Amino acid sequence: MGDFNETTATDLVLARLEGCDDPRLKEIMTSVIRHLHAVVIETEPTEAEWLAAIQFLTATGQICDDKRQEYIMLSDTLGVSMLLDAINNRKPETATQSTVLGPFYVDGAEAMENGANISKDDADGEPLLVSGRVLDLDGEPIAGALLDVWQATGNGVYDVQDPDREELNLRGKFRSDGDGRFHFNTVTPSSYPLPTDGPVGQLLARLGRHPYRPAHIHFIVSAEGYGPVTTHLFAAGDPYLDSDVVFGVKDSLVVDFAPRDDGPGRTVDYDFVLSPAG
Ligand code: BEZ
Ligand code: FE
Repeated sequence: MGDFNETTATDLVLARLEGCDDPRLKEIMTSVIRHLHAVVIETEPTEAEWLAAIQFLTATGQICDDKRQEYIMLSDTLGVSMLLDAINNRKPETATQSTVLGPFYVDGAEAMENGANISKDDADGEPLLVSGRVLDLDGEPIAGALLDVWQATGNGVYDVQDPDREELNLRGKFRSDGDGRFHFNTVTPSSYPLPTDGPVGQLLARLGRHPYRPAHIHFIVSAEGYGPVTTHLFAAGDPYLDSDVVFGVKDSLVVDFAPRDDGPGRTVDYDFVLSPAG
């Protein structure tokens, strides 16, 4: 094949994958190498630019710890997480649509009774009652469905981002009752920026992009015999619905967080629809 040069480079590297006995790894690495070479051939980075890219990736890894996942934010803000979600969660149109998990999910929220309040602190924000049903594609109730819920405070901060807080907050696991119904109390979320003090925040700023997500509550809804859905409910009227920094908004997930006429605060009602497993 001759010398390693601009014309032969890609084929020479691909030829070295011949000994790979994992066909899926070989398929993925073939594509990665092809596309990475194509980027370099198309953009012709200087050596200083390539070093800057390596330093960016190094810094992205170095800021990660058990509470901070900068690589997930990189994947999210480049639209890769939502693309992966679209490919892996193709659902019937009438099923609740999925959206990005995000980096703030914690496995291990407390199991709570319907009606419980997931906010442990009045200062978390304006009261919100969340209610609804879990249904199948025919509109029949699913009893005993699990709703794993988490959100940020009314000021847009997750418990895991607060260095002074050790216990979990604004998280809970609920079960739908015999009629598929659930309800819980919480606070009204607000739009919030992703952390901007790391390499991803700096990249967004240099790209002229804002770091905000529209106000939302996260859910993973699951039930035996049905495919689980990882999703959010977004607050109608939020100024960032059209420009969510992680591309997570879907029209069917935008709902009214309406002022309550029977008490203080707001209320939101939503029926989650699960499709059969597989
Ligand atoms: C979130 O909504 O929790 C989130 C999603 C993607 C990136 C950062 C945060
Ligand atoms: Fe969130």
